[in-house]
Amino acid sequence: MKQEIVACKRLVGEINVPPDKSISHRAVMLASIAEGISTITQPLLSEDVQRTITAFRNMGIEIDVVNSYQLRVHGKGLFGLQRPTSVIDVGNSGTTIRLLMGILAAQPFSSVLMGDDSISRRPMGRVTEPLKLMGAYLHGMHNGSYTPITIHGGSITGITYPLPIASAQVKSAILLAALYTEGSTTVIEPAKTRDHTERMLRHMGVEVSQDNTKITVSQQKSIQSMEVKVPGDFSSAAFFIAAALIVPESEIVLHNVGINPTRIGFLTVLEKMGAHIEFINVEQWGEETVADIRVRSQALQGTRIAGELIPLMIDELPIIALLATQSEGTTEIRNAEELKVKESNRITAVVSELQKLGADIVELHDGMKIKGKTQLKGANVMGYGDHRIAMTLSIAGLIAQSKTVVDGVEAVNISYPSFFADLHSLI
Ligand code: S3P
Repeated sequence: MKQEIVACKRLVGEINVPPDKSISHRAVMLASIAEGISTITQPLLSEDVQRTITAFRNMGIEIDVVNSYQLRVHGKGLFGLQRPTSVIDVGNSGTTIRLLMGILAAQPFSSVLMGDDSISRRPMGRVTEPLKLMGAYLHGMHNGSYTPITIHGGSITGITYPLPIASAQVKSAILLAALYTEGSTTVIEPAKTRDHTERMLRHMGVEVSQDNTKITVSQQKSIQSMEVKVPGDFSSAAFFIAAALIVPESEIVLHNVGINPTRIGFLTVLEKMGAHIEFINVEQWGEETVADIRVRSQALQGTRIAGELIPLMIDELPIIALLATQSEGTTEIRNAEELKVKESNRITAVVSELQKLGADIVELHDGMKIKGKTQLKGANVMGYGDHRIAMTLSIAGLIAQSKTVVDGVEAVNISYPSFFADLHSLI
């Protein structure tokens, strides 16, 4: 599907960005293996999260959509899942497949996991390897590195595992498996990554001990059901924060956005670029903090983004590249090789499509280098089947001189089904 975007004069108004994708996946998974009924208020019902819901229904878990505002999950306990009646198809969802592997490794049945073309190119060895060290039986293409993955679940043992890469999905898969292991399991992160799994486990009564980047979870007899309200997704909010910064004379407010410190590296970088973003009405929702965010258009300066900041803003790197085209001076993004194994190769996708729009941007082996400020010109661009690329290019169209046509905008349904409706309400 194609979408035409034309330059807009200003963005004004207030929106509720969609609920957090990472938290929604975790809530469905953990509620399914908890004891009794959990209520998830304001879940994200996007294509990715629907894959997680379908997977657990396929394993005998009753999940009622009470209205589009609430899910009621009838948890059956740690060992209440049934053998899936068919192959589990995770579609485009890396979070579904990786976290699910951690749970399935310990179940007394076999299962098979597969996904779309993008999933078949994404590395799974980073999850199968530590689970194998725990004693699990997993097989996949190229020695367990790629889908389809077959899991012969059974008893597993705790390990201490220094993660070779900073990945919340890998960390979470191991911590979910840890609920089932004999003995305790410790994961050591090379840099902090999003900690929604740890927070939700604590919310459900599980003791999670943390010593800086060392996280330990022990075997559980059972986990309690929960009531959880899902904050707005900061990674979705980032597209409109960026849009309001670069479309002249804009002023917008984004309501109830999750501001977990492991998710907002983007704001640290914006500060370095000279922008001031305001939090209003800060509140605590369970273990997560939310705020309304006010953004006005502002001048930006180029900066360097590398090291420990990268995992704290991994999903915001495509949109920060667009901001860099509108900043004075040079911006360099380094140590971001992980972008190559996201839903698309996000380094290639961002560089090639922003170049078509006239940006001065080059690919580096571990990131990109952008020189600003450049007047972008409309062009025909492609979303690479990747939601975050399609949204980045749509925001670029708002400041390009002539019409931009983005091909592949249906990808927004992965994380932000109301993206274009929200955009139109601000124009
Ligand atoms: C996610 C973690 C990140 C992120 C993805 C969601 C999660 O992936 O890019 O969109 O929910 O844990 P990695 O852990 O592979 O970096």
